[in-house]
Amino acid sequence: MSEPVQVRPACPEDLETVSLILVEGFYSKFEAAFRGRMDRAARIIARTLRAEMRRRLSGLYVAERAGRVVGTLSLRRREDPEVASWPATWVLFQELGLWGGLRAMFYLALVDQPVGRKDVYVSDVAVEKAARRQGVARAMLRHAEKVARLWGKEALVLDVSAGNEPARRLYLSLGYTEERVRRSLLTLWLLQMGEWVRMRKVLE
Ligand SMILES: CC(C)(COP(=O)(O)OP(=O)(O)OC[C@H]1O[C@@H](n2cnc3c(N)ncnc32)[C@H](O)[C@@H]1OP(=O)(O)O)[C@@H](O)C(=O)NCCC(=O)NCCS
Repeated sequence: MSEPVQVRPACPEDLETVSLILVEGFYSKFEAAFRGRMDRAARIIARTLRAEMRRRLSGLYVAERAGRVVGTLSLRRREDPEVASWPATWVLFQELGLWGGLRAMFYLALVDQPVGRKDVYVSDVAVEKAARRQGVARAMLRHAEKVARLWGKEALVLDVSAGNEPARRLYLSLGYTEERVRRSLLTLWLLQMGEWVRMRKVLE
């Protein structure tokens, strides 16, 4: 039997591993955002997360198994400060130059959606390839439900690319329902992902 999974808020020591998991999980998005600079992707992400963490607004969680971080997810509330903080933006400019930084900001914000007053927005759900299909994402999303209740919220919401079958199955298996499909020519053109399914789980 595999070791139990523990989910907890991320700390600065986790950020390198978290960045590698995010790059692996969302390779094509970062490839589009950091065009030609994928060698720096994990470092840039770690630095931007660190900048956010300094402002205590990251909402970043990790899943740990046998003492190793194997998964991550982010939770956001409407009342949280804007994610694109100046310190994080500055990192993008330092790493990619002015135009590269602006471009990355634009690409990384393409999928972002506003958060409802009673909702928690779930994003960046990713599990290390070698640890997939062992219940890690399920454990993280169960933890997200606990956090949402603690925050006094009523539902978890997220947007998933319509073509991401594993993720859609994951959310459906946890009781999320598919609310609507949003079509975007912009993300189709830039990310080759043109349909986004809004999913919601109302907490009991
Ligand atoms: C989607 C992802 C987070 C799932 O993580 P995971 O830890 O492997 O998921 P779990 O083991 O908790 O799976 C729970 C359930 O989800 C569904 N599921 C997960 N991966 C699946 C796959 N590859 N194919 C079909 N169903 C899948 C199954 O119903 C599974 O239950 P089961 O194993 O008992 O059949 C992981 O594949 C990943 O990191 N993908 C890349 C990043 C990404 O696309 N994130 C989602 C963005 S919205």
